Amino acid sequence: MADGTLLFHLSDIHFGNEDRAALAWVEREIAARQPDAMIITGDLTMRARRREFAAAQEWIGGLDIPVTIEPGNHDIPSYILPERYLAPLARFRTFKAQAEGSVEIPGLALVPLNSNVAAQPRMNWSKGWVSDAELAGCLARIDALPAGTRALVCVHHPLRETGTQGTALTRNGAKALAELAQRGVLGVLSGHVHDAFDIMEETPHGPVRMIGAGTLSQRLRTTPPSFNELHWDGETLAVRVRSMGDSVDGAALRV
Ligand SMILES: [Fe+2]
Ligand SMILES: [Fe+2]
Repeated sequence: MADGTLLFHLSDIHFGNEDRAALAWVEREIAARQPDAMIITGDLTMRARRREFAAAQEWIGGLDIPVTIEPGNHDIPSYILPERYLAPLARFRTFKAQAEGSVEIPGLALVPLNSNVAAQPRMNWSKGWVSDAELAGCLARIDALPAGTRALVCVHHPLRETGTQGTALTRNGAKALAELAQRGVLGVLSGHVHDAFDIMEETPHGPVRMIGAGTLSQRLRTTPPSFNELHWDGETLAVRVRSMGDSVDGAALRV
């Protein structure tokens, strides 16, 4: 590959309802493109079942590249289990500790932001919610970065609606985006809506880039299975949406 760092940004594999042909395609692309690391922005599983996390771990463990993983709303146990309310991310965190590798990128820091909550005062609990505590933790990590290191925030739910068929309706998302814009983050990576996007959002503190990866599950919305290639040259982040069946030369490059 060219100079710089190549990252694969995947999302919403939904083990339990994954697309095995799509995953085989990603494996071939990893062999061909040799990315430096992979980022997965949540919804690893369908129902947060232990066997689904085990399948995710088996697949990720066979890739032989560093992987960083964020939780999605599907990675929290069922509404009927006390575990959901007492320790919603316990299964995910156990899996993450076993599956995640150390990802170090020159000049770039991957900063997590959890947008999932166990319960919400609205009908649909699958939607995003950035709590004050989660946002404060994310901002503190960004503020502690060495001078010159850019932040790439990794979160499951898009922080604002981006025109996709699926919605995130993330509470406190606009507030989070404004805070991230004020800190000059390089971008906010997300998933959840199962279609890719790459847009600039205006906030009271200036623009911030939002990048979404599609799905590698059978739960398609409007586009085929896809993932994003992110190329970082130390100054610019180039995003290429890779759709199953495309070729690298023919893939759209969105900068
Ligand atoms: Fe999803
Ligand atoms: Fe989701």
